[in-house]
Amino acid sequence: MLLLGLLVRFSPAQQVVNRVTLDASEITYEIDKNIYGQFSEHLGRGVYGGIWVGPNSSIPNVGGIRKDVVNALRKINVPIVRWPGGCFADEYHWKDGIGPRDERPRMINTNWGGVTEDNSFGTSEFLEFCRLVGCAPYITGNLGSGSVQELSQWVEYVNSDNVSPLTELRRKNGRDKSWGVKYWGLGNESWGCGGNMNPEYYADLARRYGNFMRTYGENRPFKIACGPSGDDYSWTSIVMRDAGSYVDGIALHYYSFANERTAIDFTESGWFDIMKKTLRMDEYIRKNSEILDRYDPGKRVALVVDEWGTWYNVEPGTNPAFLYQQNTLRDAVAAACNLNIFNNNCDRVRMANIAQTVNVLQSMILTDGPKMVCTPTYYVFDIFKVHQSGMMIPVNVNSAPYIFEGDTLPAINCSASIDSLGTVHISLCNIDPDSPESIAIVAKSFLISDVTGEILTADSMTAHNTFDNPNIVVPHTFSGFSLSGEMLDVKMPPMSVVVLAVKGKLQPPAPIEPKNPRPGLNFRYYEGVWNFLPNFSLIVPKSTGMLPAIAIPGGNSGENFAVEYEGYVKVPAEGAYTFFVNSDDGSSLYIDGRLVVSNDGLHAPTERSGRVFLSEGYHRIKVSFFQRGGGMTFGAYIEGPGIPREEIPAGMLFSEGK
Ligand code: AHR
Repeated sequence: MLLLGLLVRFSPAQQVVNRVTLDASEITYEIDKNIYGQFSEHLGRGVYGGIWVGPNSSIPNVGGIRKDVVNALRKINVPIVRWPGGCFADEYHWKDGIGPRDERPRMINTNWGGVTEDNSFGTSEFLEFCRLVGCAPYITGNLGSGSVQELSQWVEYVNSDNVSPLTELRRKNGRDKSWGVKYWGLGNESWGCGGNMNPEYYADLARRYGNFMRTYGENRPFKIACGPSGDDYSWTSIVMRDAGSYVDGIALHYYSFANERTAIDFTESGWFDIMKKTLRMDEYIRKNSEILDRYDPGKRVALVVDEWGTWYNVEPGTNPAFLYQQNTLRDAVAAACNLNIFNNNCDRVRMANIAQTVNVLQSMILTDGPKMVCTPTYYVFDIFKVHQSGMMIPVNVNSAPYIFEGDTLPAINCSASIDSLGTVHISLCNIDPDSPESIAIVAKSFLISDVTGEILTADSMTAHNTFDNPNIVVPHTFSGFSLSGEMLDVKMPPMSVVVLAVKGKLQPPAPIEPKNPRPGLNFRYYEGVWNFLPNFSLIVPKSTGMLPAIAIPGGNSGENFAVEYEGYVKVPAEGAYTFFVNSDDGSSLYIDGRLVVSNDGLHAPTERSGRVFLSEGYHRIKVSFFQRGGGMTFGAYIEGPGIPREEIPAGMLFSEGK
């Protein structure tokens, strides 16, 4: 099937033109910045030596945390860090890591070399590290060997501002206010090192442990269940079936393994092998997403790729259990391919955490005592950070083939986004280590006026940065493009990653002129019992009418009903508008027939948003809401040029008159 998308490769005389089409009229999903997340486990020198050196170290530190590492991570806008594992999480007992450090008990890190863990880096140290980096924390709870009470109390210790023995303990340990940690994992790889469980058993545990992770004030935990390893679709189906409606995310782990050799010891066959394994990520995400779609069509549950990356044999002379590996141009290109895949699947993938931040597997940073070096992978995260929180622009890629020993991969992959200032960012990979590629880029609904770019490449596929030579693989200004008419022609060297910043003018779809517009929206009110928004075209309304704004019609039954609102929203100026819907239970919002906010399913008050580019004037709006039992919340909001976030005002809502 892959071959269908490939163009035939011509001889060098007949330049192959790869073609990338961006459709700026199809912008729906935001690229969650958490896709650019990290994972830091108590493993080898990942935490100890890599992040934590202790307050008495001669290595410059803030309260024990390395300054150089924090500064480097700040530069790439790390949005989130997952901790304390990994396999370590299911043996970690958080109470061992609080209070005076010299009184903390020691333990054996049985997963990673049987070394002594002195617990000097615990909850408050991790949360301080996140504060210094400027990122959100993501804590993985222990479902393997810990108790329900233990996890429940961890959430309370970290998130409650109330009075209780645990919050008093926190205050005694020097922290008055709660930290307000949002992201929590329900165990790690529970099908393997996290307890060798069956999915049915795990799903029950996830429901039970999750139930006692309480909301304190505004701090509602976002619960992430253990998902599959790569293509274990049966695990995904069963966990989604049995626990899907109790969690907010499900984790996917997938590594590109080539662990019979070290990171720098390879030829083209090792290069091709890693590219092939890396590109499989797309299939694993799509097929797992199809399963999620079956149980969660409103895309409420996030697919969280919270472990990914390359995995080789360790560097010679290092502890095999410490997973310390070098990092070459091959890793940089593999990281860029993965990030393109995550961007393109951002309707479902709303977090990803590369394994791991420092000194472990595909790291951003390597340290050796006081020395530090940023890897080629770090620089990919640096040049890709422009995609964080941008709106994804769908791309269609026709690629030349990269053929190695009779096996074929597409040479080019790509993703694109538009940021809040209207700049389009296009990231391109040429994975072919031998052939330069010429790429014709056409942007539909966007008039290009100016382009700049950055490139990451090197002369050799094994090129890497060392403590003595830290700038072998670093980004450079890229000027290998030309603009002729509407076509942007990009010439990529072999094995390179390019990120373009394209300025221009978005051409949003023309507004629609309703007949005799009059204030207010039409609504249709239905009664029935649903777990998801019903198919409104198949059911008969109990009543219909007009409302000045989007509000629950009076006289509703309080539970087991649904409402659909339809009409026009009139926007005052061309630009990017964000729509929000906060609801309990499910809701959705469409503009001009396109889904902008998807907030479906049975849930507590949850706000979701989406951004669209609109021309000045009228646009069709359709909002749907359903209420089953329990609490009821519903509100629709707008933010845009000159409009602060506010409930969509009655003055902007219209319907067609006679
Ligand atoms: O990242 C290293 C290990 O890989 C993690 O601890 C585990 O979750 C995975 O198998």
